Amino acid sequence: TPDPAFDLLINRWLLYQTISCRIWGRSAFYQSGGAYGFRDQLQDVMALVTSGGTSAQQIARQHLLLAASRQFVEGDVQHWWHPPSGRGVRSRCSDDLLWLPFVTLHYVERTGDTAILDEPVPFLLGRPLAEGEAEYYDVPAVTDERATLYEHCVRAIERGLTAGPHGLPLIGTCDWNDGFNRVGHQGRGESVWLGWFLCRLLRDFAPVCAARGEAALAAHFQAAERDLREAIEREAWDGEWYRRAYFDDGTPLGSATNEECRIDSLAQSWAVISGAADPERARRAMQAVETHLVREEDRLILLFTPPFDRSALEPGYIKGYLPGVRENGGQYTHAALWVVMATALLGDGDRAYQFYSLLHPIRHAENDEDVARYRVEPYVVAADVYGAPPHTGRGGWTWYTGSAGWMYRIGLEYLLGFRREGERFTLAPCVPRSWREYRLTYRHGTARYRITVENPDGMTGGPVAITLDGERIADGWVPLVDDGREHEVQVRLLAPAHQQP
Ligand code: GLC
Repeated sequence: TPDPAFDLLINRWLLYQTISCRIWGRSAFYQSGGAYGFRDQLQDVMALVTSGGTSAQQIARQHLLLAASRQFVEGDVQHWWHPPSGRGVRSRCSDDLLWLPFVTLHYVERTGDTAILDEPVPFLLGRPLAEGEAEYYDVPAVTDERATLYEHCVRAIERGLTAGPHGLPLIGTCDWNDGFNRVGHQGRGESVWLGWFLCRLLRDFAPVCAARGEAALAAHFQAAERDLREAIEREAWDGEWYRRAYFDDGTPLGSATNEECRIDSLAQSWAVISGAADPERARRAMQAVETHLVREEDRLILLFTPPFDRSALEPGYIKGYLPGVRENGGQYTHAALWVVMATALLGDGDRAYQFYSLLHPIRHAENDEDVARYRVEPYVVAADVYGAPPHTGRGGWTWYTGSAGWMYRIGLEYLLGFRREGERFTLAPCVPRSWREYRLTYRHGTARYRITVENPDGMTGGPVAITLDGERIADGWVPLVDDGREHEVQVRLLAPAHQQP
């Protein structure tokens, strides 16, 4: 691309960070853990599926089956566990289990490997959590019973479909934001983000059920999605953006009525990513993110604002972090990348690239002054960047962060627009208007696809014309054939005058 910093990360460092630190080491200076986090490595392997290459995809495949084996017969999963014993935590976390079907869908769509759905995997057997017990740490037994990966996924979704007083899913002792462990620990608090996440999942999973002859289940999931979507629009729209959650006592979180955490990026970015939100509201919500959470001058995209400090709200251990640090209203890069993803999905390539560049570690260390402020490695992504004085702009926890995999995927799939589906691929760019050309090489077994994307009219996205070895590809999908040859793929972004009606 015209941006060497972008190239450096996409071509090397993001995948290096993902594989060496997240998947193999599971350890870094700030958290020398070694455990698998249920939702963590599942998200990481999504990047390996995208990167292509048989060995990377094998890592993803094996990890999906490993994760499935950490599911209890009741459908819930270990929040994290240590190999090789399998000792880990059973908790009331509400989203962990749903990442299994979510990532399975991604893997199957990209690789075309539907056979994985029929792989048999056992369950875990452990004592259920007692009334009022938030979690326990133990080595569960393994069942003789085995079920297919598909059945593990269905069990997760059925268990994950809950509803609280507003018809939104229960947040339990946390959702993606681990620090929100006291929003719904009494069993009534609800999560708006989880609602959007479930909408995306149910929309994509229902067709898989239908294709396997389970029409009734597909219909059930579709109906659940509709109910959820309606509940969110009815109960969670705050006027300018979507609320983030409801506490056990019904107090909203992420609302203009809150003193702290008035707007949280997750409920806005996932309104777009889910594909389920009212389009006009979703656009306004992202506008609010830009107004309140994107701080261009500090090169930050905040998770929420203002941070928790002195208000009466007790959302959980997140409040124990200093204001502006980690999840407490700093830049949590993982979530900031979902802002980029949503911006790209809205089709704004200039903004999407601008936001992506704000998160770019190299851009935080371009001169002495920046280095003195940022203070951490510029070649890996930092999980967080502090958002409040006196440490504004200082990098936090580096290396061991799931934002590396998302940064890779969003750069490659949502900006450069490379999309593989089974044995074919297409390009759906969302790039700055100033980018007139960029190139990708994709290796498929012994074949090489040399792709040139041309943008002579300064478009930011939209329809493209594609040729493969000089032949026009009418449906836009280039077939992948492992034939030992080099193929030339020309992609041209079309100005309106050249678009077919
Ligand atoms: C940490 C956890 C991850 C969680 C995130 C936000 O990165 O490993 O699972 O989603 O924090 O709380």
